[in-house]
Amino acid sequence: MTEPAAFVFDAYGTLFDPQSIAARAEALLPGHGADLARLWRSKQLEYTWLGALMEARSDFAEVTRQALDYALAALALPLDDAGRRALLDGWLELAPYADAEPALRRLAGRPRWILSNGTLGMLEPLVAASGLRAHLDGVLSVDAVGTYKPSPRVYALACSRLRLAPARIAFVSSNGWDATGAKAFGFTTWWINRSELPIERHGPAPDHVVGALDEVAR
Ligand code: LAC
Repeated sequence: MTEPAAFVFDAYGTLFDPQSIAARAEALLPGHGADLARLWRSKQLEYTWLGALMEARSDFAEVTRQALDYALAALALPLDDAGRRALLDGWLELAPYADAEPALRRLAGRPRWILSNGTLGMLEPLVAASGLRAHLDGVLSVDAVGTYKPSPRVYALACSRLRLAPARIAFVSSNGWDATGAKAFGFTTWWINRSELPIERHGPAPDHVVGALDEVAR
């Protein structure tokens, strides 16, 4: 295997745990935190795909708001504006996975970037709050190309910014659909299968499947 010239990481679900918001939700809506966090996250992703197909996309901050409103309505959970604000702010303070910092540290010396659906306004404070800033060379948002993953235009953004051919870039994601999209684009792809899920079937299989981030560096 040729050594990758750069490592590009997905953010939500890969470096940062979206389910860490469940604790915040649980404090506001006892007994419903985990369910709300799960439905909120799946609706958030669905709205990115719908917005891209409709060619009328809202940015990820707005999509996240819309998905929260849907999830609260679907679960019939009452929550005032201050509560909604507190939950939305949770996206700026998600917990990094325990293996994120050690994995990034082991890759020091190689370019390490984030490529995410998030807005820079969401991602930059998150990277700063998590302490991962020192281990990253930069953050790329899909907003630069006006669509969402898994559009090839998103993955091409990393190639143009890093001036590298797709196969020279190791793309790392825990989202199986993102790893498949990245492989279809031409990246050398690592799927971090944290939850022992079956492989996605709608495109080519990722090059590598591992259980945790630090296995990439190894
Ligand atoms: C991201 C989505 C996939 O960070 O969670 O791009």
